[in-house]
Amino acid sequence: MLLSSAELDQMERRYRASFINSLGGFKSANLIGTADSDGHTNLAIMSSAVHLGAHPPLLLLIIRPDEAQRHTLSNILETGVYTINHVHEKFIDAAHQTAARYPKHVSEFAATGLTPFWQPGFEAPFVAEASIRMGLTLREHQRLAINGTHMVIGQITLVTVPEDCVSRDGSIDIARAGTVALSGLDSYHRPQPLRRMAYAKPDREPTPLDPSVMTRA
Ligand SMILES: Cc1cc2nc3c(=O)[nH]c(=O)nc-3n(C[C@H](O)[C@H](O)[C@H](O)COP(=O)(O)O)c2cc1C
Repeated sequence: MLLSSAELDQMERRYRASFINSLGGFKSANLIGTADSDGHTNLAIMSSAVHLGAHPPLLLLIIRPDEAQRHTLSNILETGVYTINHVHEKFIDAAHQTAARYPKHVSEFAATGLTPFWQPGFEAPFVAEASIRMGLTLREHQRLAINGTHMVIGQITLVTVPEDCVSRDGSIDIARAGTVALSGLDSYHRPQPLRRMAYAKPDREPTPLDPSVMTRA
């Protein structure tokens, strides 16, 4: 089917949201851990984390417009820190449930049974059950004029990854770590690695990566 802008406009609101959300492709499933300045915790699933740069190590998050109170955003702005925790296939149900609109005094950790884990000196909770966890410090926040979404850019200042998932060349085998992929807002996938490719060069045919770099460090 070929659809025009007018036809997209005419779609029923929820149907259009599901349709367009799937067009963004596979995304990572992450839980964003925050606390307010009194230490009340919050946890929310988000699919919008995108790599922005490696040095400094930056990740960008898109937080939806504030037609309702956004606890994650207000906590990040209050404390300047947050955590990003990869969703593992063993806790998809609990991770998905964090999207429910709980009142501010109810922590999604308590509501879903996930366990807050604190690193000394870091004011945001990690998810103990996650095998890949990052602590971030807020570097930039902008409300985007085009649709009122909030762009939140953070620098990774703490990382936990399973040692047996790190290759000799530094890349992390996130499929081995159990990280799941998302399509739309409700479809969770187990990724299946196909191949890794060598750095592309104009004078070289596409070449699969030398397997020796993929051995674990
Ligand atoms: C799979 C999935 C992905 C989501 N991704 C995002 C996202 O990237 N940004 C966002 O603002 N909300 C996203 N949401 C919605 C939030 O999880 C939801 O609004 C949550 O209640 C926000 O919690 P908070 O008000 O405590 O911050 C997503 C929901 C689901 C189910």
